[in-house]
Amino acid sequence: MLIETKGLKKVFKSRGKEVEAVRGVDLAVKEGEVFGLLGPNGAGKTTTMRMLSTLIEPTEGRAVVCGHDLATDSAAVRRDIGYVGQEGGTWGEVTARDELVMQGRLYGMSKRTAAKRAAEVLESFQLSEYADRNVKTYSGGQKRRLDIALGIMHEPKLLFLDEPTTGLDPQSRAHMWDEVRSLRERGTAIFLTTHYLDEADALCDRLAIIDHGEVVAEGTPLALKKEVAGDVVAVGVVGDGEKARTLLGEKDFVREIESGEPDPATGVAVLRLYVDEGATALPELLRALDGAGIAPASIELHRPSLDDVFLKQTGRSLREEGN
Ligand SMILES: Nc1ncnc2c1ncn2[C@@H]1O[C@H](COP(=O)(O)OP(=O)(O)OP(=O)(O)O)[C@@H](O)[C@H]1O
Ligand SMILES: [Mg+2]
Repeated sequence: MLIETKGLKKVFKSRGKEVEAVRGVDLAVKEGEVFGLLGPNGAGKTTTMRMLSTLIEPTEGRAVVCGHDLATDSAAVRRDIGYVGQEGGTWGEVTARDELVMQGRLYGMSKRTAAKRAAEVLESFQLSEYADRNVKTYSGGQKRRLDIALGIMHEPKLLFLDEPTTGLDPQSRAHMWDEVRSLRERGTAIFLTTHYLDEADALCDRLAIIDHGEVVAEGTPLALKKEVAGDVVAVGVVGDGEKARTLLGEKDFVREIESGEPDPATGVAVLRLYVDEGATALPELLRALDGAGIAPASIELHRPSLDDVFLKQTGRSLREEGN
């Protein structure tokens, strides 16, 4: 395990009030994986990440990061990790190349090694073209790429990325995903936070969903979604609603069936079938309808999303919170 935490907790005291930002989190992150922490604003993602990267001390609980105990060996943890904060920190009167070289020197590289590594990193983050320009002239996406380039200058085993794509346009976002994937291919494990459902789904090998400082679900995106409900097939029929319902309700691959009222304009009534595996249920379902002489007006396959998982665990939707 690259990260293992037990009962990690953080209580902030501000103006006499206590805020329980993280309330006893247990996490396990494996070597070489992309692990995500998904949750709404204020869930405790940044706080968890700042504890694991030694920036703040836990109030309670323990964690081992890259084989080192967080409480007794934080210097060793710091050597093995890279950290890219939510806000980013590159906007000065300095070029990207100089900033990268400085970062390398900070980690004890010689001038030559730092320059060589900087050139390498600039190339892999497609920044070579702007490498000798003041960072303050960079676009948002270029800045974010530089943030991450800084985080991996010293070739950490584990990279922490706090909301790597917030504020990026769709194209820069897609680039960032590619960069995260290629870092993983080169053996860097990544711990990232996000409040984007699609990002967690597409990018993470495993994830934990966090809400009000507590982990409410954990697993691979696929397993988490499967846990919720299986797939839903929505079949639209005209006139044969009852007949179709009786017919399909008897099939053993259908777990549950709900029927809606016919649409007054089109006469189409939609049956929602809850099935384990939509891909195999669809052909069987079509055959059954065909055999009974019922021609469906429409068929839609709905796979549960991570939002359905969040909804089931918390009773709220992540989408509704403006994320
Ligand atoms: N230094 C602090 N002092 C007091 N409260 C804090 C401090 N830092 C964070 N908090 C509170 O702890 C809770 C968790 O904050 P955190 O920044 O970890 O959330 P987050 O999941 O990263 O949210 P976001 O998606 O908005 O970045 C929030 O209620 C926040 O207001
Ligand atoms: Mg945050």
